[in-house]
Amino acid sequence: MESYKNLLLANKAWVQEKIKLDRDYFTELARDQKPEFLWIGCSDSRVPAEEVTGTEPGEIFVHRNVANLVVHADLNMQSVLHYAIDVLKVKHVIVCGHYGCGGVRAAMTNQRFGILDQWLRNIKDVYHDHRDEIMAAGDLEAQTNRLVELSVFQQLHNITKTTSLQRSWNFDKRPTLHGWVFGMNDGLLKNLYRLDPDSPIEDIYRYDKDALR
Ligand code: CO
Repeated sequence: MESYKNLLLANKAWVQEKIKLDRDYFTELARDQKPEFLWIGCSDSRVPAEEVTGTEPGEIFVHRNVANLVVHADLNMQSVLHYAIDVLKVKHVIVCGHYGCGGVRAAMTNQRFGILDQWLRNIKDVYHDHRDEIMAAGDLEAQTNRLVELSVFQQLHNITKTTSLQRSWNFDKRPTLHGWVFGMNDGLLKNLYRLDPDSPIEDIYRYDKDALR
């Protein structure tokens, strides 16, 4: 059998399983979504947001891209962020990187990857800003993993530069931003960074409160 047909079969089995546990499961699911969390993760197939966090459909609003980047000119990413904060009113935004990230590893080389080069340049910029610290981390694997962590931290700060986030922090005291890194080797999420709604925002990126109303 062609492999994709397994997915459709597995879907039928999943539906049966859900209905067996709760006859109204899909009636409820179709009604509304009220996720508390926005997850910004890597597209890597080994880091499925719901599976590694033990969550069910309806619990996490998800955006994934190569190397979990928050890029200010990315309309897709910014739309997700705006919708999650303004409409869904999520309480937490999680940026989750992962050790051994292929995107981060690629950005550390001098190879070309076509259209991906523009995207990966955002990681090169993080490398540029923390070059000495990354070089001091150890071998290439350790350096890559340190850059993974530093990039997650940078993405949290990129979120704080948006008007959606600043408005919500000012007038609604949410969401809390979290920076996590998933370890392929042990399956554990490392809870590394946290920015609460009263965290300072660098002057040049901070909008006047009146301008945010
Ligand atoms: Co990755």
